Amino acid sequence: MSPTRETATPGVGPGIVVLAIETSCDETAVAVVEDGRRILANVVASQVALHAPSGGIVPELAAREHLRWIVPVIEHAQRDAGERSWTRIAAVAVTEGPGLAGSLLVGINFAKALALARGLPVVPVNHLEGHLYAAWLGDGDAALPEAPEFPLVALIVSGGHTLLVEMPGHLEYRLLGQTVDDAAGEAFDKVGRMLGLPYPGGPAIMDAARVAGERGLTLPRAWLGDRFDFSFSGLKTAARRIVENWRAGGGPSPEQVAELAWAFQDAVVDVLVTKTLRAALERGARGIVLGGGVAANMVLRARLAEGAAAMGVPLHVPRADLCTDNAAMIGAAGHLHFLSGRSAGSELDARPSLPLAG
Ligand code: KG4
Ligand code: ZN
Repeated sequence: MSPTRETATPGVGPGIVVLAIETSCDETAVAVVEDGRRILANVVASQVALHAPSGGIVPELAAREHLRWIVPVIEHAQRDAGERSWTRIAAVAVTEGPGLAGSLLVGINFAKALALARGLPVVPVNHLEGHLYAAWLGDGDAALPEAPEFPLVALIVSGGHTLLVEMPGHLEYRLLGQTVDDAAGEAFDKVGRMLGLPYPGGPAIMDAARVAGERGLTLPRAWLGDRFDFSFSGLKTAARRIVENWRAGGGPSPEQVAELAWAFQDAVVDVLVTKTLRAALERGARGIVLGGGVAANMVLRARLAEGAAAMGVPLHVPRADLCTDNAAMIGAAGHLHFLSGRSAGSELDARPSLPLAG
């Protein structure tokens, strides 16, 4: 494991600086964010290589790796942010949930210790709202993206969650729909494993689908009537049946892997895009926000952009490295919570099943 995906612009601007820590899953991440929008440092140490042999995250291993990497990652972020920014930190934002209990606790305890040592408040942040607020982020020295206008409809698609929410204003969430079984990212990971592709399955399926020669296969879509909920388990079962048939015939060949990867991605993207656009239309949204690891998928981004443009609704999507887990997004949401006066005491604990909205 090594620190990757970083950006740094030492000491820009006179705004409020928040230090953010994210350890909910398999990335040890620390960021320094100014005014909830400008990234001054963003360091992510990924455990993907460590968990790849088992094809999924091993919770005990993840927590131990966070412990091992948190100090070097904080030091790296401090160097990137520079002394001027580091001394201006006004609060420590940290992911309190949802996620793996042991992993969350590493970040929470480091946040508490740092805050205590420097006399700063600890601001707890929901990981899922972090994914949404990634859309507001830009690099310290570059022009910021257009700030989304409310009301918004937001789609969060990650390894553990698939949610469609309405945001009437900042930090306000109304749940429109969610998955009734697998999360979209989880389905990508499981089908990737079925096809013998490397972990995580999402990027591997996207790459395999890109070279598909055969694009005629149509897999089932679960529309669930006019609800905004999602279901991916039937699609996964259909994919498994096809792979089993191919196996009986000595396959799947690389061409068949590409064909199924394409058909699977096409089905997931079709449902996600159709429901998100319909929600935006019905709710009179002035913008659509896309976030979470699966939002790094280029086909999803392109099709949603196409549909949103046709409706005349602006689409806000973070760049790919801000879609997957990072701490800058926790700093973005943490900044708003800090402004609203939210802070936690020493009793702050991990909340593995924390919901975004009821
Ligand atoms: O948000 P995230 O980094 O972690 C969680 O909070 O779960 O999301 C990870 C998920 C994994 O399931 C991964 O396969 C998926 O995001 N993912 C993708 C792509 N990149 C990551 N799925 C589809 N296409 C991608 N390019
Ligand atoms: Zn995530």
